[in-house]
Amino acid sequence: MNTSPTHYDVIIIGAGASGLYCALTAGRRGRRVLVLDHANKVGKKILMSGGGRCNFTNYFVEPEHFISTNPHFFKSALSRYPSWEFIAMVEAHNIAYHEREHGQLFCDDSAKDIVTMLLDECAAAGVQIRINTQIDNIDAHHDAHKRFWLTTSKKLGKKDSTHGVQPSQDTYSCESLVVATGGLSIPTMGATGLGYELAQQFGHTIMATDPSLVPFTFTDKTGELIRSLAGISLPVIASNERISFKLPLLFTHRGLSGPSMLQLSNYWHLGETININLLPEVEVTDLLLTHKKSHPKQLIRTVLSESTDHALPKKLLAALQHHLWEDIKDTELANIKDERLMKIGDTLNSWQLKPSGTEGYRTAEVTRGGVKTDEVSSKTMQSNLQNGLYFIGEVLDVTGWLGGYNFQWAWASGFVCGEVV
Ligand code: FDA
Repeated sequence: MNTSPTHYDVIIIGAGASGLYCALTAGRRGRRVLVLDHANKVGKKILMSGGGRCNFTNYFVEPEHFISTNPHFFKSALSRYPSWEFIAMVEAHNIAYHEREHGQLFCDDSAKDIVTMLLDECAAAGVQIRINTQIDNIDAHHDAHKRFWLTTSKKLGKKDSTHGVQPSQDTYSCESLVVATGGLSIPTMGATGLGYELAQQFGHTIMATDPSLVPFTFTDKTGELIRSLAGISLPVIASNERISFKLPLLFTHRGLSGPSMLQLSNYWHLGETININLLPEVEVTDLLLTHKKSHPKQLIRTVLSESTDHALPKKLLAALQHHLWEDIKDTELANIKDERLMKIGDTLNSWQLKPSGTEGYRTAEVTRGGVKTDEVSSKTMQSNLQNGLYFIGEVLDVTGWLGGYNFQWAWASGFVCGEVV
């Protein structure tokens, strides 16, 4: 390794949401900060977030919107950096935004505005950023000033490698090293497991990682039924024994998606069943039994399409009929046994499904699990095992709900770390 590396007070690996926020915070304190990223652009996930409008935070941030093996870990950072702090920065940069349901805040124009804001703040704070930079090696030394030594090389483009160009290497040293490499979701956007590897290099435990905020997939006959309904969306209550969400459900060509499914995926493990109430406003069994008395000549589909305030979409009703009561589809209610009506009611109010899996990291918005939080200070994000080493953002075992909470965690953890590095 080069004997005279370029020295910085702080080196941050990852120019994403948490890395940039940490950089601008530390830079404002007069620290010499370098941010390294292997991607060809900074903040790629910010750019693609919220359908290109970035749901950058939420008016209502509470501990219950986050999961971690240690449910207390994230409280300190979130209370020291509330969402209005980020909103104030957005307003100071004259970025127009709006509120959607459940307190979610989105840019009016483009997620690019958020990246530009972060880059402007980094520039004003004297932060240096190097993209297309691959981290080859990291060593820790006893010298507290030059604690970490990094070897990096410039990532070569396709043309460079076909022309036999050799990557040039650079070496750096720093007092504080911040790992802000995010999770594993969307590898095509630059996600790698480097953060977990570094954590393990310094003795940290990684809590099992899984794709999360992700649609469910199904293989059996239920899968066929679901796929045949692609495009249909309706409000449901999706639940399991841990949690329940009253939000829209979307049938797709691959399985079940929509906010209710993404939220539930944060609380789901392979092999478990999920429960969907397709008619949350109606007790279907009561409805059918009442109609059997009052309108004995009616058919089940008539009751479900006409008699409720919240009728099921026609195509869904036809498919459910085909799967659940095809044999009695033209039978009048008076001639259907109560037990059968109760069974149909139970299924519509509590459809039990066993997903075969999820769409995985290809489409997941986040990674559940990560660096074990018991081994990291909740006040500073510093490792309890290696002085000067910090972990922020999604690489930690902290996962937020859908709704701007994952960015709020990135800003908050980046902020508390940037205050001390
Ligand atoms: P982030 O992923 O932002 O940054 C990590 C950085 O590290 C990247 O720049 C990457 O290139 C770099 N890196 C990785 N490996 C490296 C290596 N080996 N060497 C060098 N650099 C490396 N959240 C939310 O609150 N609201 C929303 O609207 C959305 N929407 C959304 C949509 C989609 C499609 C996705 C995939 C995700 C979201 N999210 C979201 C989640 C949110 O994007 C995510 O939680 C944060 O970006 C996490 O911030 P981090 O800084 O931890 O990682």
